[in-house]
Amino acid sequence: MSRTVLITGATGTVSTALINALEGADVRLRALVREEFKAAGPRERGAEVFVGDLDDARSLPPAFEGVQDVWLLTPNGPRAPEHNMNAVWAARQAGVERVVRLSVVGAAHDAPNRSGRLHALSDRETERCGMRWTILRPHWFMQNLLNEAGDLAATGTFSLNMAAARVGMIDARDIAECAARVLLDDPDRHHGQTYTLTGPRSLTFDEVAGHLSLALGRSITHVPVSDDAKRKTLLGYGVPQWIVDMLEEYARAYESGWGDFTTDTVADLLGRPPRDVADFARDHAAAFAPAVDN
Ligand SMILES: NC(=O)c1ccc[n+]([C@@H]2O[C@H](COP(=O)([O-])OP(=O)(O)OC[C@H]3O[C@@H](n4cnc5c(N)ncnc54)[C@H](OP(=O)(O)O)[C@@H]3O)[C@@H](O)[C@H]2O)c1
Repeated sequence: MSRTVLITGATGTVSTALINALEGADVRLRALVREEFKAAGPRERGAEVFVGDLDDARSLPPAFEGVQDVWLLTPNGPRAPEHNMNAVWAARQAGVERVVRLSVVGAAHDAPNRSGRLHALSDRETERCGMRWTILRPHWFMQNLLNEAGDLAATGTFSLNMAAARVGMIDARDIAECAARVLLDDPDRHHGQTYTLTGPRSLTFDEVAGHLSLALGRSITHVPVSDDAKRKTLLGYGVPQWIVDMLEEYARAYESGWGDFTTDTVADLLGRPPRDVADFARDHAAAFAPAVDN
């Protein structure tokens, strides 16, 4: 009989790509969303949708009942370990067999950023959850560049506070395909494994601008800015202070060379090289295109 997979974070970047990656596979898809009005996307792709909130442990049991595999994604924020705890507990109570958890590159108790340290707490909990488990630790998402799409489309520039940082960035679709591979393989195959996932190359943002220029057919420039300038911009857009502080910690770490590496893990799992930033740029060209006046 087909296994039932519960996808948490089902409206987000990675989980949406995971639902796409699992389309047509021999699994029963179930999606957790926070509000009923967000059910349409996952439902259209064949998922049975449950409403629940990782903030609220009492809302979770129905979604986990009858599930064999959980894709566990916790949103960024100070309550991430509580979210993980609530989901792991609901999974244990429901007799779930396997948890595949999205963590982050470099998660460790001594990581130079709060997200890495929080993820380390949830990784430890997951390793001792009593179920089969696999942890994915992806590098910086290429999809983060979509946050710059407005500026990029309007001015042909994007501004980051990472100066000459070199980062082994990954396309989130590859993370999703690795997650799908793990979920579709036998539960014992990847049990106890922690996979660090990167793209094919470690790139500076000047190099990223070069690849965007080629893929989009117009000149794109990376304009390095100070932490204070980036902080002001993000706060102006309404990004919460905690997230702004977290992003600054990452920027400092990346500038020190912390993210300058790649692994072969995506190729090992998928049997093909990871997508390049040029693939990402081509596939998202519409998002970076200047607005057309009618
Ligand atoms: N960005 C990066 O470069 C990077 C790199 C490595 C790892 N990561 C990790 O990736 C994760 C984020 O993945 P993503 O970018 O795919 O996420 P995302 O697009 O920000 O989506 C977050 C998802 O979580 C849901 N959610 C938020 N609060 C919730 C709650 N209280 N209960 C249940 N669901 C809730 C959201 O639902 P709504 O639609 O209701 O908001 C949404 O579906 C984080 O753990 C982050 O540390 C990120």
